[in-house]
Amino acid sequence: MPNPALIPTFIRELVVERTLPREPEPDLVMADPEQVAAYVEAGRIDGVMAAAYLFHSAQASQVIQRCKSVLDLGCGPATQLAQIAELNPDVHFTGVDLSSTMLADANKHILKLGLTNVQFRQGDITTLEVVDDQSVDAVISTVALHHLPTLQHLENTFKAVRRVLKPGGALYLTDFGRLKSLKSVIFFAYMNARFQPHLFSLDYERSLRAAFLKEEFADLTRRLLPGDASLVATFKVPFLVIIKTADKPLPASLRERLKTMRQALKPRYRRDLDDLRRFFRLGGLRHDPFA
Ligand SMILES: C[S@@+](CC[C@H](N)C(=O)[O-])C[C@H]1O[C@@H](n2cnc3c(N)ncnc32)[C@H](O)[C@@H]1O
Repeated sequence: MPNPALIPTFIRELVVERTLPREPEPDLVMADPEQVAAYVEAGRIDGVMAAAYLFHSAQASQVIQRCKSVLDLGCGPATQLAQIAELNPDVHFTGVDLSSTMLADANKHILKLGLTNVQFRQGDITTLEVVDDQSVDAVISTVALHHLPTLQHLENTFKAVRRVLKPGGALYLTDFGRLKSLKSVIFFAYMNARFQPHLFSLDYERSLRAAFLKEEFADLTRRLLPGDASLVATFKVPFLVIIKTADKPLPASLRERLKTMRQALKPRYRRDLDDLRRFFRLGGLRHDPFA
């Protein structure tokens, strides 16, 4: 290794790994109707998020088997929550969100699907005041934590999770991980730009810029969450991280259903799903429910 001081500056610029500074989301709670509509549309109509939804539904289902009550932090329009709830009809789900715009949409969605195992509470996930101590069997959360303004808020959220979770409870928390270079942020944010509303691409870019580092998630997991919770990330670029407790075997009927749902995806989204499976497997995730 040559003495770094002897390397010309422009070469050092290229080789030294720098980390983009975090840029918190301008709208911490998603309340702007236009922004909410773009998010909902991308999730429900043209299906840009179909692969990610199915991936997380399958993974979360493995974690929450045998649980009776599950709390979803930052449930938003409940597209993800509804899919998990449909797959696990014997489990009761509570979605928590601060945005009344999101919750109105979530309620409509659940009613339309005729789901009776989901309810919503308006509340702040950093305190979870609306939830009693040791009252839930599992806590899940999908792509919501990057909305928190600071690392201290993430720490408070993890403390609140620990408080409301029953001893031995299950966890499935997933969010973006902050990327090291702007080039990677732009690549991931705009790779599907042709197929999604522009506001959604902008929202995605902001989300990636607001993400916490994998190392920050790892540190808080070690310090604040139950000992059996561990972190995995996509290899080699940690653009998604998952903090989870152990998987339990899925009933054969649910496995079959997930495989059928994978087959029913448009080919492009099926490829996206298989990429997610591959990048997480390389990152150390075990028990692929689609295998
Ligand atoms: C990107 S959406 C994710 C929605 C959903 N989990 C999904 O997978 O599609 C993030 C949600 O977190 C909510 N949120 C942000 N900060 C919050 C807080 N402190 N307490 C509760 N909800 C919050 C926002 O209102 C928004 O609905």
